[in-house]
Amino acid sequence: MKEVVAVDLFCGVGGLTHGLQKAGLDVVAGVDIDPRCQFPFEVNNRSLFCLKSVDQLKKGELDSWYNGADIRVLAGCAPCQPFSTYSQGSKSAKDEKWKLLGEFQRLIEETRPEIVTMENVPQLIGHEVFVEFVGSLEKLKYSVSYKLVQCEKYGLPQTRKRLVLLASKFGEIELIKPTHNKPEKHRTVKDALHGLPCLQAGKKSNKDPLHKSAALSDLNLDRIKSSKQGGTWRDWPEHLVAECHKKKTGKSYVSVYGRMEWNRPSPTVTTQFFGFGNGRFGHPTQNRAISLREGAILQSFPRNYQFTKPGVDPEFTVVGRLIGNAVPVRLGQIIGKSIMRHIENHAK
Ligand SMILES: C[S@@+](CC[C@H](N)C(=O)[O-])C[C@H]1O[C@@H](n2cnc3c(N)ncnc32)[C@H](O)[C@@H]1O
Repeated sequence: MKEVVAVDLFCGVGGLTHGLQKAGLDVVAGVDIDPRCQFPFEVNNRSLFCLKSVDQLKKGELDSWYNGADIRVLAGCAPCQPFSTYSQGSKSAKDEKWKLLGEFQRLIEETRPEIVTMENVPQLIGHEVFVEFVGSLEKLKYSVSYKLVQCEKYGLPQTRKRLVLLASKFGEIELIKPTHNKPEKHRTVKDALHGLPCLQAGKKSNKDPLHKSAALSDLNLDRIKSSKQGGTWRDWPEHLVAECHKKKTGKSYVSVYGRMEWNRPSPTVTTQFFGFGNGRFGHPTQNRAISLREGAILQSFPRNYQFTKPGVDPEFTVVGRLIGNAVPVRLGQIIGKSIMRHIENHAK
């Protein structure tokens, strides 16, 4: 088997890297601008973390990491960037917003890796920068495929939708078929979270610092006690309902302040999943929002994945963002499997 070496741009805490490694790829380096990602990326993965903005990354650095490998994979999920309200809506604002996708494209054009993969938000599909990105790959003679993936159909205990692109110099490449297509096969919140120690709102486990849940006000504690699995604030007695939800304009906002259901996949784990009021992030049976560890497990990180150095108390906003932004490990593994299968068939 030829040596398959990957570099992960915008690597974060390593969700994608971890999944690619599980599938047998050798991810030698990850690049990210956020220093908080270095510890989790390196301690959980056999890989080097490069703290740098991708727009400063040079072809020579990529070449040195690939070190003459037979098959080079360039992976990345270029995030869209916030832009000033001043330029909002203008052509230049759109270009600014997806500037990092342009940097990913530049590095592909400069290094011509044998295989490229990108994960991103579904909204990117309709965007002209995506059309341009695909066009530039085709011009370089890559076979390209992309797909809107419903992650629960690939064994993630979460209904997350993502765009996944694969491109190869060896010929047609596609994501493998769904592994958990039928709803009765979907992995559930119960499958994922069974056996974790019970927790009260505002408390943390003495065995695992990441198994901590955000405090709730007395009002929100009463609210969660009145919440049903999969229900909404409409199940609450009148005196608990927020004034904004009583108004005509607020009546349709039903997907906040809810509990997850044991027997279904969770909703999308966002960067704010630790807050009961931020979505359907209430624990199915305990009176609290899910813990940081539970969010990480729903993103299919192994139960012992470390996010902060020993002795450092994980901050909800920081670690919640890192977890919510990650590519689920399971999706990374499916992408990795698709690449390895393609290589077996096309690049002997
Ligand atoms: C969607 S997250 C990536 C998640 C990661 N692939 C994972 O699986 O955990 C996007 C990442 O891009 C990083 N980022 C944003 N601007 C960047 C830049 N200019 N250069 C490098 N990384 C950047 C962010 O810090 C964030 O970690």
